[in-house]
Amino acid sequence: MPKVLVCGRGGSGKSTFVTMLAQTLGEQDKVLVVDADESNLGLGRMLGIQPPAQTLMDDIGGKKAVGSKLMASLRSGGTEEVKMFAGTFSIGELSTESVSWNGSVGLAQIGKVEHTNEGCACPMGALAREFLNKLKESDEEWVIVDTEAGVEHFGRGVLEGVDAVLMIVDPSYEAVLLAEKAAKLADEAGKAFSVILNKVDEETKSRLKEMLEAKKIEIAEVLPYSTDISEANLVGEPLTAESLKQTLKEIITKIIPSSVKAG
Ligand SMILES: Nc1ncnc2c1ncn2[C@@H]1O[C@H](COP(=O)(O)OP(=O)(O)OP(=O)(O)O)[C@@H](O)[C@H]1O
Ligand SMILES: [Mg+2]
Repeated sequence: MPKVLVCGRGGSGKSTFVTMLAQTLGEQDKVLVVDADESNLGLGRMLGIQPPAQTLMDDIGGKKAVGSKLMASLRSGGTEEVKMFAGTFSIGELSTESVSWNGSVGLAQIGKVEHTNEGCACPMGALAREFLNKLKESDEEWVIVDTEAGVEHFGRGVLEGVDAVLMIVDPSYEAVLLAEKAAKLADEAGKAFSVILNKVDEETKSRLKEMLEAKKIEIAEVLPYSTDISEANLVGEPLTAESLKQTLKEIITKIIPSSVKAG
């Protein structure tokens, strides 16, 4: 099954969507959720999964070690592509310290900001790219990547390791502009790109549709504003996909396989 990257502007609903998608996929298949957002801490709580004991960055020696490798590569005229894993690996081969499981859904974290002045995010981007490139999932396994807000991770090449991009667009002009940019970057990288409207009502849905169509961006699916979701996030409880399950199933059967084929 494909590796799917979920992107969008800050607060658009990326982590919420990743959680509900993983839960819905997890009813039949194995799903590894990769948290590539180094700032936010809420994904584990939304999934109802205790974050793993260590991040993937810890697993390979820490941010400093990866940063030094990157610098050495750049100094010797190389690129930001440094070898961090000896070869390819499967989800089952990942250590129990770096993936937490709740039934068929697992959570791994690329790395988190731990200290002030700890340096740029390049090592995180490099690790995310290398990890996704080397991870080989089977036909019954999915990899869903939650990202930080904006499109910086596109510039760091994280896109290279995935098959399809789902962009969450909430009702705002900035989200439309970002969708235009993300669509262009995904196209440049040769990746399938789909937009999902989130937190909309009938009025905002039709206005967003108009704005996106003017930029030749098609809307693949629509998730309405849900009081169940906002209530769970308000009190800090795990999310359940119950109220939006039908729409999520449509996204899975319709959008993801066809977008991967198209890519
Ligand atoms: N369909 C929805 N209905 C109602 N509220 C929603 C919906 N989707 C997301 N939200 C709310 O939007 C807020 C942001 O959601 P979430 O944390 O998933 O966004 P994000 O894009 O991951 O944010 P960040 O950029 O900070 O990582 C949360 O308070 C959540 O409850
Ligand atoms: Mg998030």
